[in-house]
Amino acid sequence: MLIKPSRGASEPPASSITPREVYEARREFIARVAATAVAGTSIWEMANRQAFAQGATARLAARANPAFSTSEKRTAFKDATSYNNFYEFGTDKGDPAQNAHTLRTRPWTVAIEGEVKKPLTLDIDSLLKLASLEERVYRLRCVEGWSMVIPWIGYSLSNLIRHVEPLSSAKYVEFISLADPKQMPGVRSGVLDWPYVEGLRMDEAMHPLALLTLGMYGQVLPNQNGAPVRVVVPWKYGFKSAKSIVKIRFVKEQPRTSWMVAGPNEYGFYSNVNPNVDHPRWSQASERRIGEDGFFKPKRKTLMFNGYNEVASLYAGMDLRKFF
Ligand code: MTE
Repeated sequence: MLIKPSRGASEPPASSITPREVYEARREFIARVAATAVAGTSIWEMANRQAFAQGATARLAARANPAFSTSEKRTAFKDATSYNNFYEFGTDKGDPAQNAHTLRTRPWTVAIEGEVKKPLTLDIDSLLKLASLEERVYRLRCVEGWSMVIPWIGYSLSNLIRHVEPLSSAKYVEFISLADPKQMPGVRSGVLDWPYVEGLRMDEAMHPLALLTLGMYGQVLPNQNGAPVRVVVPWKYGFKSAKSIVKIRFVKEQPRTSWMVAGPNEYGFYSNVNPNVDHPRWSQASERRIGEDGFFKPKRKTLMFNGYNEVASLYAGMDLRKFF
């Protein structure tokens, strides 16, 4: 917490040591300079903030991949970029759009390390070139009970994993987000254990649906959506899809994710979308599609694995109540 020292009682006021006309003139001068400075920067600053808040970024071309896309109505770009969870920028849904303009997304590197034959550090341009970019329209179901349909741009995470040649000892992949209090005001709070950490089992990470994501809606990822690189794992609750990743680590043991640390009884490692297993504080049987289902409309039914049944074989024989 920022503690502002109060002016001590023994400290003399400026007026008692400087002649009145001098300090008044000085005050007026300072006020004028400050006003000019604010006016001078504010137009640029405000325009910039506005553009960021609206999600304006550079175009990013990609080939549509209908085989991996739902034909459901897409969520409006405005909703997808103004109703976000990105606690590094605040906990209210509108905070990321308001605050994420301070995130510097270039230069940006992702360090890949741990149980791999070829540990390496890749910059964003190398990541953009590593495999051909596809547009995939995925449903994203948040653990809080809302969902969106978003045209993401990226390629299967498996391309990157194969590139670094994991060792047979690599059982899990850990995704670590940036945690820079200078750029991310939320990191100064203790709301989560920073950095934001998420993880997948190796076979989950290798599933072709798991997307290394660099853009959405035909453009580079807006900051509030996890620029410049995130993952999107559409059959799991949204919190598994870590944003603004700076490190990918291949590990032997199951990672301790930020949400598991925050609430071990509420958030499990797997977190597959599962309408049959309630969150301890609310049902997961239905959801509200952002921009479509108003508060007076009945919610729509949530589908097992968010409707991505092709992943079911990854969990054959597992008790998904126990491994929630
Ligand atoms: N990644 C980081 N680093 N920090 C976060 O707070 N929130 C998660 C996930 N990834 C989060 C994160 C949650 S709870 C959700 S629902 C999705 O991001 C939201 O992604 P979106 O804002 O692009 O829809």
